[in-house]
Amino acid sequence: MKNLFFVLLIFVRVIASSTFCPSSLTFNVLSYGATGNGHTDDTQAFLKAWKDVCGATRNYVKLLIPDNKMFLLQPLSFKGPCNPATIEVLLEGTVTAPERVGVWKFLDNRRKWIQFSDISGLVMKGGGQIDGQGAAWWNSNDVSNRPTALHFHNCKDVRLSSIHHKNSPRNHISIDTCNSLEISHIHITAPEESPNTDGIDISGSSNIFIHSSHIQTGDDCIAINSGTSSVNISDIFCGPGHGISIGSLGRNGEDARVEEIYVRNCTFVGTSNGVRVKTWRGGRGYARKIRFEDIKVVGVKQPVIIDQEYSSVEMESERSAVKISEVSYRNVKGTSSSDSAVELSCDPNVGCSEILMEDISITKEDGSVATASCTNAHGTSSHCNPIVPCLN
Ligand SMILES: *[C@@H]1O[C@H](CO)[C@@H](O)[C@H](O)[C@H]1NC(C)=O
Ligand SMILES: *[C@@H]1O[C@H](CO)[C@@H](O)[C@H](O)[C@H]1NC(C)=O
Repeated sequence: MKNLFFVLLIFVRVIASSTFCPSSLTFNVLSYGATGNGHTDDTQAFLKAWKDVCGATRNYVKLLIPDNKMFLLQPLSFKGPCNPATIEVLLEGTVTAPERVGVWKFLDNRRKWIQFSDISGLVMKGGGQIDGQGAAWWNSNDVSNRPTALHFHNCKDVRLSSIHHKNSPRNHISIDTCNSLEISHIHITAPEESPNTDGIDISGSSNIFIHSSHIQTGDDCIAINSGTSSVNISDIFCGPGHGISIGSLGRNGEDARVEEIYVRNCTFVGTSNGVRVKTWRGGRGYARKIRFEDIKVVGVKQPVIIDQEYSSVEMESERSAVKISEVSYRNVKGTSSSDSAVELSCDPNVGCSEILMEDISITKEDGSVATASCTNAHGTSSHCNPIVPCLN
């Protein structure tokens, strides 16, 4: 009798927490004890729900974070590998980090807030919000300890869309060691003065598609770092912020490899850089096969920049550099808020080669002529205003 009661109880709970349909099952965090009142720590409830989601013997499973609720979460890690071929995290409500720096409880010193790792087949969407509560961190002296808000590590086939992500203590989304990932229709916001609040950072990953999104933060909108290849970025509105960056690469002698990057139809408004490739002295490796197309700049301080002199400290041992080649710029138009439209500052030993510029038209904001400068850059150009002296 007691057993029967127990079985019934489980049955009722499954009914309560899930929507049955032939192949999908929904797990609602509220059924695992989450309060969603914005004050009570709901971390354990999320982890319990994740355990069932990850272990479910279904093909397609949903983790529901419902609308009109705010869930306070401490740093937590959603780990795979999981049973379902696809897990959908349906973020309809808000998840928020602790408001005060002192109450964050980190997992073994990893400075991440929400982490997904070792997962294949993850969809995150739902129109909800992720609030990193960064303000307290930006003001604290503890700069190096500021955490990343959302981290994807060792993931495959991830799709992230329709999320508003704001005020990370550090970078908003970091992607490392992932293959096949798409981010679209997201909105990332943090104040222009907030330090190191990159929108999306990518390293060690390939087959990445980021499109149709607004990124307005205090640092790079998107930064592409070492070990990354096959990245398409399109239809991005960036600003304020530091623009879209390849690098910085080659720090501390790093052997950096970045290739097949395609940035298309992006708009930069009031950013410090538009499209930038930056490397440190002393690094090795390459950044190559990079295309920037249909780029609009409005009041951007350095619309087009390659910067290989990233470190101002010159050392004898730092004779090497990351090799930059096959970089093309087509149809880049708009205005610069400084004198500079194009700056190609390449390393004296390694240089930049096969740089192509076509249909460039950038003036100063008052309509007067902006400048283009080059050091150690080689390649060709046509229809450029201003004329790029080293490319012909
Ligand atoms: C990037 O775009 C190219 C050309 O349009 C396409 O062939 C490739 O599959 C795309 N890759 C990704 C990862 O979106
Ligand atoms: C360029 O991006 C904007 C959004 O920023 C989009 O509305 C437009 O359709 C895109 N154009 C092309 C040709 O892809």
